[in-house]
Amino acid sequence: MLDRLSPQAPDALLALIRLHAADPRAEKIDLGVGVYRTEDGATPVFAAIKAAEQRLVDTQESKSYLGPEGDMGFVTALMPYIFGAGDPTMGGRVQGMQSPGGTGAVRLALAMAQKAGVRRVHMGVPSWPNHAQILADLGLELAPFEHANPDGTANLDAVLAAINGAGPDEAVLLHACCHNPTGIDYTADQWTAIAAAFAKSGTFPIIDSAYQGLGHGMEEDAAGMRAVLAAVPEAFVAHSCDKNFGQYRDRVGAFYVMSKEPGDLDTAFSNANALARAAWSMPPDHGGAAVRIVLNDAELTGLWLAELDTMRARMREVRDALAAAGTAGRVDLTPLGTQNGLFSMLPITKEEVATLREEHGIYMAASGRINIAGLTPSNLPKFIAALAAVAQ
Ligand code: LMR
Repeated sequence: MLDRLSPQAPDALLALIRLHAADPRAEKIDLGVGVYRTEDGATPVFAAIKAAEQRLVDTQESKSYLGPEGDMGFVTALMPYIFGAGDPTMGGRVQGMQSPGGTGAVRLALAMAQKAGVRRVHMGVPSWPNHAQILADLGLELAPFEHANPDGTANLDAVLAAINGAGPDEAVLLHACCHNPTGIDYTADQWTAIAAAFAKSGTFPIIDSAYQGLGHGMEEDAAGMRAVLAAVPEAFVAHSCDKNFGQYRDRVGAFYVMSKEPGDLDTAFSNANALARAAWSMPPDHGGAAVRIVLNDAELTGLWLAELDTMRARMREVRDALAAAGTAGRVDLTPLGTQNGLFSMLPITKEEVATLREEHGIYMAASGRINIAGLTPSNLPKFIAALAAVAQ
């Protein structure tokens, strides 16, 4: 059997983790996989999560199965942050279930869309590389459109054309905020136009929200997504807590369905549960339970939001410093100042990415995507000098 398999390329982002770890140079800089880092280069566990985990250890009486939907206390506690505190169920039309990370939620959303007859998914490119991998694995066709204009703004015409042109067996996948890999988000006016296009065309939206809170704040980062949800009868939302609660390896996510009528949710979730059962049976519990404890405790919620504020402020400082540097070689760094979240893209070649890695110990995705949080006041001058030397 096994000799019938052909070797597959390792996931490029995950391969970078190993390459960087194996580099003995003390001054190396990791701008690869998307994890937040402090000025000291650490990715600490949130204090709010540590406190919640301690409470979990002290009070959890059983680790018996919960079911394919996971911890519904977690799923429900998250809803006001995603759908708005006023009416998080949007008139009883929203329900969710826990998933293994945001990836599990995206996978479930796309598999559900496929079960409902979707064959083709429109998506702005570049995107998180795993989006295309999941689509390919499910046998769904990817219909790409340009996410950004050459001037660094989001390409509204392209997304509107995709939404307006999509047929009944097609869906459009959007990033809620902190676009991965470009950091280029739609403006409020653009979201309004996008929402109107969804409403008019009847095209089905699938929204991947993996970085809520890392751009401008939990509320601010949800505004575009909420504009779309307010305008359409049905949608899927995939949410990740891996970044905004620092739960990366604990794999904490949730998949939500917004239906036309409250009565449509039972059938929807009978399908979602069946897909989850066949794929992973039940999601890992620990991280979701910790988030539930944080969100059900006002003090821990305040602590968590303050920690998110600190992360955001640090990333803004890095972006401000990059923008203030102006240019590095032929690379204009000023647009990075107004982009959002962990990522931005440098307009450099694969060869230049390789030179930065080999000669300067600076690691980034071959696309030129950098993790802003990998830069610190102490390594920023080295990064800018190396970029200036390589990208002439
Ligand atoms: C990233 O894009 O670096 C993160 O979303 C991590 C991942 O799973 O790829």
